[in-house]
Amino acid sequence: MSAKVLAFINFKGGVGKTACAVNIAATMAKLHDKKVLIVDLDPQSNSSLWLMRPDVWREHVAKGRRSTFEIFDDAIQGKDRFDFDESIVKGVTTWTGFVELPQLHLLPASVELLRIEDRIHELRPPALYRILDRALRDRLDRYDYVFFDCPPNLYTTTKNAIFLSDSCVVPYVPDYLSLSGFQVLAEYIEELRGKYTDSAGERRHPNVGAVVVSHYRQTGNVFRLAINELEIMLAQLHDRHVLESGAGLLQPFIRHCVRVAESTSEHLPVILYAPGCIGAQDYSDLTQNFVTHFQNRK
Ligand SMILES: Nc1ncnc2c1ncn2[C@@H]1O[C@H](COP(=O)(O)OP(=O)(O)OP(=O)(O)O)[C@@H](O)[C@H]1O
Ligand SMILES: [Mg+2]
Repeated sequence: MSAKVLAFINFKGGVGKTACAVNIAATMAKLHDKKVLIVDLDPQSNSSLWLMRPDVWREHVAKGRRSTFEIFDDAIQGKDRFDFDESIVKGVTTWTGFVELPQLHLLPASVELLRIEDRIHELRPPALYRILDRALRDRLDRYDYVFFDCPPNLYTTTKNAIFLSDSCVVPYVPDYLSLSGFQVLAEYIEELRGKYTDSAGERRHPNVGAVVVSHYRQTGNVFRLAINELEIMLAQLHDRHVLESGAGLLQPFIRHCVRVAESTSEHLPVILYAPGCIGAQDYSDLTQNFVTHFQNRK
């Protein structure tokens, strides 16, 4: 595959998986002329709701064959209802009805995904971990980047994304309690290395490709100290070969920015909602480094 396929993962919730996937993708489309697909794998459907008005999203997914739910439900039921071309949403529609960022595509989620984890174990590995691979592999090369916005867990849907991805991106909010979680996550990804082959028969080597910091606050020194601890842990995990070389902490950190929070209810990425705010500036600088980082990586 020539597309760079990246899973945004962290089993801690609310750390910016969705914010980073949506805003890095939108900034790539706007400033770097990249064609990007966001695949929403979270029953919360947050990236879908960030980029679509709720009425439009509900109508889209109500048609029964237009969300990531159908991919997994088809696999469980042995059906073939999912239709990629019918499912993707192209561009972001503003309140005036104008479609911006036509190069940004979204494969929405629906809340029915909640039901999947209970039923999916009717399937066994390796088929269990090849569901996304079988549904999407042939479509991904239309894009420069494909981002999986994963739920805050490491269950089957997330593992499907990890096994189809070239690398994982770990959004991280620097605080003391997040640190041990990050170590567990990195070790878990390492354990998955070489365990499964994809539908093309290739052995998969999941890895952490980058850590991105979100919700950064400059007041006090608690965040700075937490970043120092994270840097020490990253160095230790590199020494132990839990992290591969080049798995980096990307700069700049995304600062806490009320305009980013507001942009969710306006259903726009921050670069369209408030292009002059610090959130848009941080995402624009981070995206520049993100593109360079992943271009050099593969
Ligand atoms: N830079 C920021 N400044 C302020 N608020 C932000 C910023 N980034 C994200 N948020 C807000 O923080 C909340 C959590 O972010 P987000 O939904 O991206 O996390 P998540 O890891 O995807 O969560 P979940 O685990 O539930 O999927 C959201 O309500 C979002 O609006
Ligand atoms: Mg999310």
